[in-house]
Amino acid sequence: MSAYQIIDHSYDVVVVGAGGAGLRATMGAAEKGLKTACITKVFPTRSHTVAAQGGIAASLGNMGPDHWTWHMYDTVKGSDWLGDQDAIEYLCREAPAAVIELEHAGMPFSRTDEGKIYQRAFGGMTQNMGEGPAAQRTCAAADRTGHAMLHTLYQQSLRYSSDFFIEYFALDLIMEDGACRGVIALNMDDGSIHRFRSQAVVLATGGYGRCYFSATSAHTCTGDGNAMVLRAGLPLQDMEFVQFHPTGIYGAGVLITEGARGEGGYLTNSEGERFMERYAPSAKDLASRDVVSRSMAMEIREGRGVGEHKDHIFLHLDHIDPKILAERLPGITETAKIFAGVDLTRQPIPVVPTVHYNMGGIPTNYHGEVVTLKDGEPDSVVPGLFAVGEAACVSVHGANRLGSNSLIDLVVFGRAAGHRLAEVCKPDAKQKELAKDSAELALGRLDRFRNADGASPTSEIRNEMQRTMQADCAVFRTERTLDEGIEKIDRIYARMQDVKVSDRSLIWNSDLVETLELDNMLGQAVVTMHCAANRKESRGAHMHEDYPKRDDANWMKHTIAWMPGWGGKDLDVKIDYRPVHEYTLTDDIDYIKPKARVY
Ligand code: FUM
Repeated sequence: MSAYQIIDHSYDVVVVGAGGAGLRATMGAAEKGLKTACITKVFPTRSHTVAAQGGIAASLGNMGPDHWTWHMYDTVKGSDWLGDQDAIEYLCREAPAAVIELEHAGMPFSRTDEGKIYQRAFGGMTQNMGEGPAAQRTCAAADRTGHAMLHTLYQQSLRYSSDFFIEYFALDLIMEDGACRGVIALNMDDGSIHRFRSQAVVLATGGYGRCYFSATSAHTCTGDGNAMVLRAGLPLQDMEFVQFHPTGIYGAGVLITEGARGEGGYLTNSEGERFMERYAPSAKDLASRDVVSRSMAMEIREGRGVGEHKDHIFLHLDHIDPKILAERLPGITETAKIFAGVDLTRQPIPVVPTVHYNMGGIPTNYHGEVVTLKDGEPDSVVPGLFAVGEAACVSVHGANRLGSNSLIDLVVFGRAAGHRLAEVCKPDAKQKELAKDSAELALGRLDRFRNADGASPTSEIRNEMQRTMQADCAVFRTERTLDEGIEKIDRIYARMQDVKVSDRSLIWNSDLVETLELDNMLGQAVVTMHCAANRKESRGAHMHEDYPKRDDANWMKHTIAWMPGWGGKDLDVKIDYRPVHEYTLTDDIDYIKPKARVY
């Protein structure tokens, strides 16, 4: 690969991704005096965190009684008992401090009349260990919370002397003897190749929602870090758990925040019935997302969907005072007008469950260190490699994430990674030379796609992948759809051998970058479909109609999956398991025992 000139860099820490988690980790490492670089394929304030709407969960208790143990109970229950309780305790205990830190950093939260941070109700968030009414726990900046948070974190990151490599596309990790030693990236602007050597790499590359046809995720959500991990011979965890947000705008897929229901919005079917009262008599429209999405899908399946094709549901906000809508939900007021042609002060919004979040990802402990199953040890740390945010599977969300637990995950674990990096890395420590062939994996792949001259355009393969995932790995799954899904997705993966890239240049070659992203997504789509077919039970977002019950005796375990031979002709997915952490972090709270999940 000598045709490519390589520009070398050396850092203590390299963070890949500049969403909420990546920026918080960058800030944390730089603040501790570590020489830190942040590589990002989009300008930081364009990262997908900017699209988060409804809020960030923390038991501040500004709007009523609350406690971190209640937040923990709800998160464990929301996860359908697949979450690791040590990590969930860490998340919920640290959440208030992480939010106050954002407030002090200048984040423009909405305020109560007394000037406290405004908090709204969100699905699955309750008082008193699930026994009480809804808890108002979700701290909000109107319905643009992610936007406010991302701008705050980017400004803070600039206070510290970290270096940003913007519009650089990370290609692959540099692994030596089982440890991560850096990363290779392409500068998309001028086509130069950059080799970053570092004591640690933090992957903060987000989810892979774009594997699906209809997703609330930005087009950039292609899970590049997850794919790099698979190519490095490491596993991904719990990939079968894909969250469908109940309220994506019908047709456009654009998000209408759960905060809309938190402010009093409700769903109706073609008979005008508030059907959630039947499925979740207590929480109703504020049941957890998997429950609401399934209920909507059931209504549609049984012929009670709305519209010409009876294939969606109505979300009503037309009974709410327009002043409140203007103050608390200005973003979705505009979105509903633009993408659905609806004036939500007078008309219902047409919505449908839409892919929104990946519970699965790169397995880590609560310090953000990547872990793997090695020599029988399920929590074996991979030296030099960290993952945070949606790319990571800590696992605090288990089989289903509660709304507003994502933004808090980003800052709590971005911050935790910063703490751990300060312990394991030394400022300016001397690093060994990298092996001569350290860029071969990345450049071999880049060169192969750059010169790919097959008969299948990238857009055609991507469309086939997205439609297959949407049809066969959806809200409801069966043995038949999953078996067919495996057959189809494996065949689509094989089509990458025949992909066609037309642009051979290296200057802003979006044809090439989209092909690299597609390759990344396809690996994850394959693993997701295989893991979904493998799990013979229903839990959280994985609703398997041939195995409709949760089966704790056999399946209360994390799936981990490797993909040996990536890029070759012989596709192989290997599956094993890690135990769920059935213990808490401290004696302040006991292990929350599994029980039936009723809302
Ligand atoms: O509905 C929303 O505002 C999304 C929040 C989340 O996914 O946490």
